[in-house]
Amino acid sequence: MTIKKIQEEILRLKKEKNICILAHSYIAKEIQEIADFTGDSYALSVKAKKAKENTVIMCGVRFMAETVKILSPEKTVYIANGAAGCPMAEQMEKEAIAAVKEMYPDYAVVAYINTTAALKTVCDVCVTSSKAVEIVSKMPQKNILFIPDCNLGDYVKNQLPEKNFMLLSGGCPTHAKIDESDVLRVKKAHPDALFLVHPECKPEVVKYADYVGSTSGIMSFAEKSDAKEFIIGTEISITELLQYECPDKKFYPLSKDLICSNMKATTLVDLYDTVRGVGGEEIVLDSETIEKARKCIDKMIELGE
Ligand code: 13P
Ligand code: SF4
Repeated sequence: MTIKKIQEEILRLKKEKNICILAHSYIAKEIQEIADFTGDSYALSVKAKKAKENTVIMCGVRFMAETVKILSPEKTVYIANGAAGCPMAEQMEKEAIAAVKEMYPDYAVVAYINTTAALKTVCDVCVTSSKAVEIVSKMPQKNILFIPDCNLGDYVKNQLPEKNFMLLSGGCPTHAKIDESDVLRVKKAHPDALFLVHPECKPEVVKYADYVGSTSGIMSFAEKSDAKEFIIGTEISITELLQYECPDKKFYPLSKDLICSNMKATTLVDLYDTVRGVGGEEIVLDSETIEKARKCIDKMIELGE
């Protein structure tokens, strides 16, 4: 079967079965082309809440599919490839964070959305990279325990000097591969390019940025900018997508190592198999986890809107 034929079959079946397809911006272009919604993790979590369909398929990593289930427990939610996890989301155990919380009761626990449903049950609010500064600034508490990404935490801390931050050492293994020498090398090769970076990168990388933002933030900045050349400091698929969207501009990856193998795990055939009921994995969460984790996601949507 050709890619086009598989896409047509998916579109036919999704209409027949009333299925909503969500795809993160890091996912393969042939999936994004036929998804109902694409975007960063914040946009997808809001779309998931509003989706009318009874079945939702997430093409992304597991925490994203869990977020959909938490927000819409009445829906049947699938992850198109059950092996696609986010290593950062699985770095911290809920028992460990609950113990830290007990030791520091005057700290609000702010969890990056890249966390498991279980961990969210002991957190006060979630944030995504696009809304982290805004949401933390609206928290009534002065003291913030930010988990798990210390790079995003450091970025938020620098924007909000009026708050006290406690950071733990977690983060994204893909973005953390990049260091200052990569930035200096690519900037030297493309001195006129603007440098756009995801806050999951280390502070020594972020300090050179002309713009810091989520995957969608980086894309819309580049699309609207009058500049003609950009160095893209996030997963390599964003560099590729931008080159499709803006053929008159030039996009350079900060490093060819910026590849998230988990985001690359989901294929068009995985989606096809899930739509026709012979693949994917249904997300199953118990009602107590859903109820507790939902509080912190609802708080994010309330403060982020
Ligand atoms: P966004 O919040 O920008 O979608 O990022 C999610 C992610 O996993 C980035 O690595
Ligand atoms: Fe997780 Fe990093 Fe991959 Fe994003 S890029 S899904 S944070 S491992």
